[in-house]
Amino acid sequence: MKNSKDIYILAIESSCDDTSAAVLKNNQVLSNVIANQDIHQKYGGVVPELASRAHQQNIVPVVQQALKQANVSKNDLTAVAFTKGPGLMGSLLVGTSFATAFANALNIPLIDVNHMQAHILAHFIQDHKQKTPNQPTFPFICLTISGGHTQIVKVSSYFNFEILGETLDDAVGEAFDKSAKVMGLTYPGGPLIDKYAKDGNPNAYPFPKPKTKNALDFSFSGFKTSVMRFIQKNVKENPQFIDENLNDICASIQNGIVSILMDKLKKTVKQTNIRQIAIAGGVSANSEIRKRLTENKYGWKTFIPPFEYTTDNAAMIGITGYLKYKNGLINNDKKLATARLKVDE
Ligand code: KG4
Ligand code: ZN
Repeated sequence: MKNSKDIYILAIESSCDDTSAAVLKNNQVLSNVIANQDIHQKYGGVVPELASRAHQQNIVPVVQQALKQANVSKNDLTAVAFTKGPGLMGSLLVGTSFATAFANALNIPLIDVNHMQAHILAHFIQDHKQKTPNQPTFPFICLTISGGHTQIVKVSSYFNFEILGETLDDAVGEAFDKSAKVMGLTYPGGPLIDKYAKDGNPNAYPFPKPKTKNALDFSFSGFKTSVMRFIQKNVKENPQFIDENLNDICASIQNGIVSILMDKLKKTVKQTNIRQIAIAGGVSANSEIRKRLTENKYGWKTFIPPFEYTTDNAAMIGITGYLKYKNGLINNDKKLATARLKVDE
């Protein structure tokens, strides 16, 4: 039996195509197991029906492994946290059903977690490697950049979020993935563009910066179309264009996207006068955005989550579950999977 003062959370994440389970002791991660679904690669994107089937196959072994790695027995668990939404309905239902059955069988509380809040609250995980935790204080700005979302959020407390700007069409992760697809790279193409960009010239091919009515909103569909047209035109003239210039094309696309993100952050600081900037979500794994934020030319205090907590993972669901549990935010009425959910809901 563990120390009864400690809070042990089993967390489940299944909103898209990664099945993940984590065990947290208070704000510390004891295990964070992620099963990726390679099946989607050959389709160039996530196929919802295949994702929910893979979650069904993965969820039991992933949870077993998370408990084993953490050396925590299920009887020591204080509560179960799970992703309620947003995400793919079929995927969410697998995690929701599993978490509900697990908590009911153990007769412990069930905590529903908003995936977008969790990406942001991943900043409050106590990292073993850092002696003095580098965590933002309130209020701070969080740029949430993932395959499904692009938002600038003002975070005033653990559970007070205000969307200052968001994408009007494609998410930034889609801009990376769809640009990669046009070049024949496998899904998800974001990490591959990042990899090839390392040896390329970021100024080789300039791409346009889209304008939006609200200065803090984003629009990536025009950017994506201009990349598509550019590739098609050049391949028509030279069928080897992509192979011969892959690094430069990737570096230019990445530079275009990251410059848009940095411009929006500069505008946000000007508008809010908040100089603490955090990033969250899968695209915050990108080395160029990390580099430009770390260079810190603007006098901001920047917060970049450890790499393993950027793309979808259950540890971020666990820290959110822990903070909700500690603050008595266990809402027993609203436990259903919800495909559409805003960060402030
Ligand atoms: O947060 P996430 O794991 O899933 C969603 O909730 O969407 O984000 C996945 C997205 C994908 O679009 C992927 O290409 C992108 O994050 N991504 C990257 C990098 N690593 C992941 N994009 C650019 N550079 C990276 N290094
Ligand atoms: Zn995500």
